[in-house]
Amino acid sequence: MDRPSDRTPQLLLLVAGAKGAIGTTLAATVAAMQETPQLVLPGLTTADKFPFLGECPSVAMAGWDKSDDDIIGAITRHGVLPEGMWRPHESRLAQMSIFDAPDGALSITAQIKQMQADIRRCCERYPDARPVLVNLLPAACDLSDPARYETVDALITEAGAGILPDLAYVVAAIDAGIPVVNFTPNTVELPAICSLAVAKGVPIAGRDGKTGQTYFKVVLASALKARGLYVDGWYSLNILGNADGLNLMDPDRACGKLNNKTNLLDDILGYPVGKRYGRSAHKVHIDYYPPRGDAKEAWDVIDITGIFGLPMSLRLNLQGRDSILAAPMALDLARWAVALQTAGLAGPVPDLGFYFKKPVGNDAPLTFEDQLVALERLESRIESRIHKRSHGDR
Ligand SMILES: NC(=O)c1ccc[n+]([C@@H]2O[C@H](COP(=O)([O-])OP(=O)(O)OC[C@H]3O[C@@H](n4cnc5c(N)ncnc54)[C@H](O)[C@@H]3O)[C@@H](O)[C@H]2O)c1
Repeated sequence: MDRPSDRTPQLLLLVAGAKGAIGTTLAATVAAMQETPQLVLPGLTTADKFPFLGECPSVAMAGWDKSDDDIIGAITRHGVLPEGMWRPHESRLAQMSIFDAPDGALSITAQIKQMQADIRRCCERYPDARPVLVNLLPAACDLSDPARYETVDALITEAGAGILPDLAYVVAAIDAGIPVVNFTPNTVELPAICSLAVAKGVPIAGRDGKTGQTYFKVVLASALKARGLYVDGWYSLNILGNADGLNLMDPDRACGKLNNKTNLLDDILGYPVGKRYGRSAHKVHIDYYPPRGDAKEAWDVIDITGIFGLPMSLRLNLQGRDSILAAPMALDLARWAVALQTAGLAGPVPDLGFYFKKPVGNDAPLTFEDQLVALERLESRIESRIHKRSHGDR
């Protein structure tokens, strides 16, 4: 059997924020996969799905960043992977095309033009690969009134160069017919952008990757609900010492993430936690704690009641690795995005709620079991549409 490294790449990740903690971990993942797929493949949710993408996909990565470091310097700086794990793949890493981010002072139109020229170069380099934009930019403050821009043209021209930088990447990709995975908490799925995505036939997956504490919160809350145990309060604390953690110390930048982490509990349970106290008893705190680097720690204290209202309590302590949890999910999502596009499914994809804290689109599944069922349903939908297409029955 040929190794993926012997084949032309089938999937091209175009990563905004390629030199960040997740971006560099993804780069090392992509490079390692070409030599030793078994290091990565068992850690994917899509490991044994989508055989038409190849059992062991050959993946290329390119992207943009505004850091002056080269990719090797960035991997070293983040310290997510021990050097012995990425050094054997140094030459593959060094060959990745990571472009300078467009100058934020340029007009949005000029930024999009620059990105699309970069995208064309990447697509010429990997002519057989299906490109997907993976947004890994830092958490940022949202536009104040995004719905007022009825069209993407209005957004580009009226909102000006000071808008969320993510929007230029997303518009550049969608306009070029490239699907978008939005791993950040930033709201890029504006109505005008979703309309453009539908018109261009590209899916949008997002937002805010559900990697660690919130993933287990959804699992536990769903289990408590299924068992009829009442949640009286839920206290969640995160400490992390990476650049994302530092960035989230700015309350304006953190508010999207905190809302995404907070709102889903009441939605899953179907009642406001803390109702009897007249205020929410679901607390979520994020604290920057440099000694931890990317190895974040999360604590949850969950107060529940059973019959006769008698109190019980549960403690959860997650000692995770932010980017090690996130990178395979970004890869999984890129595979889903290509499959969705091949099946002709465009616009926001709520059925990918399994992966996100704030799934885009309408009627996203809320509980863990509904999210798993939605993934299975999406897979069947994709397969049956592709089957029909390949038999000329549209
Ligand atoms: N790690 C997780 O578990 C997790 C979970 C959910 C969401 N997220 C989100 O994923 C995103 C990425 O996380 P990270 O830890 O890699 O962050 P990071 O800060 O390490 O990386 C962000 C990268 O973006 C680059 N950048 C900044 N502005 C840019 C621009 N205009 N154009 C191109 N590059 C630019 C930075 O130089 C940096 O290299 C964040 O929004 C984070 O909130 C992470």
